[in-house]
Amino acid sequence: MAHKIILDTDPGIDDAMAIFFAFQSPDIELLGLTTVYGNVPVTMAAQNALTLCELAGKNDIPVTKGVGMPWVGEESTYAHFVHGEHGFGHIKPEPPKGELDPRSSAQFIVDMARKYPGEITLVAIGPLGNLALALRLEPELPKLVKGVSIMGGAAFVPGNVTPVAEANIWNDAHAAEIVFAADWDLVMFGLDVTNDVPFAPTFVDVLAEKNPTLGGFVQESAQFYMDFYSQNREDRVCFFHDAFPIAHLRHPELFELTEGHVRVGTGTLDRGQTVVAPKGTTPSPLWNDANTIKVATKVDHSRLEKLFIDTYAL
Ligand code: BDR
Ligand code: CA
Repeated sequence: MAHKIILDTDPGIDDAMAIFFAFQSPDIELLGLTTVYGNVPVTMAAQNALTLCELAGKNDIPVTKGVGMPWVGEESTYAHFVHGEHGFGHIKPEPPKGELDPRSSAQFIVDMARKYPGEITLVAIGPLGNLALALRLEPELPKLVKGVSIMGGAAFVPGNVTPVAEANIWNDAHAAEIVFAADWDLVMFGLDVTNDVPFAPTFVDVLAEKNPTLGGFVQESAQFYMDFYSQNREDRVCFFHDAFPIAHLRHPELFELTEGHVRVGTGTLDRGQTVVAPKGTTPSPLWNDANTIKVATKVDHSRLEKLFIDTYAL
């Protein structure tokens, strides 16, 4: 049976790659794209999600606009230096023709969870404000969804925004704290695995060859993204963080996971840090009383790359 998912996203180049991967996956039923600020402001994220749907001919997929500000603190500074002025590298997309679903992202998540109790996996690949707000709107949400898969965090490796924090969690650390503390099955795909798999330019060339429309868009937008990721290293690479949780839903055997108690930092120095204590490794009640999550620690690189290519080729 297909996995019903809602993809919570801030498109974004690797978001686009992940969204197309979901579109192309026969065993994924995508109920909607719920957008959030992050790589770009939320209005742009929502328009970009519509653009991606139109490019793929998926005009029937609902797209919602969600939170545009962190749970606490000032407006974000966004990541145009990674994803480009409009979120897709050097590409300036035509304004989409389609309209947004009028509901907020959080309300859409709650409505769908009530409609399909126990069936939906929330896949969050941006900052976590929409999920935190959905938990406030419907405190029973953890019982209504099947699980939550997140691209974000860095458990046993350094961060990518600060020495300790990954961008999605750093961008809305208070929201992440709420989401990580909720009583649901949460699997975290952080930099532990996503930064461990550099993709060479030939990878996006193959995506474009297999799927000129969707792969071609990823190839073109990824040139800017590769410029960013290739600074200070000899080879030319980029990272497709956001596609990992979807790959895991479809092929869990490609990943190794470990269980641990998690805390999210919300202070000045530890903002967005995801500190994971594997079970039984600390006597501290500060961690042992904290929620348990699963963290991806290893992935089979070559099979993952083949899965992406084969799926774009469908
Ligand atoms: C995450 O941050 C964003 O730049 C990417 O889209 C991804 O979700 C990686 O740290
Ligand atoms: Ca993202």
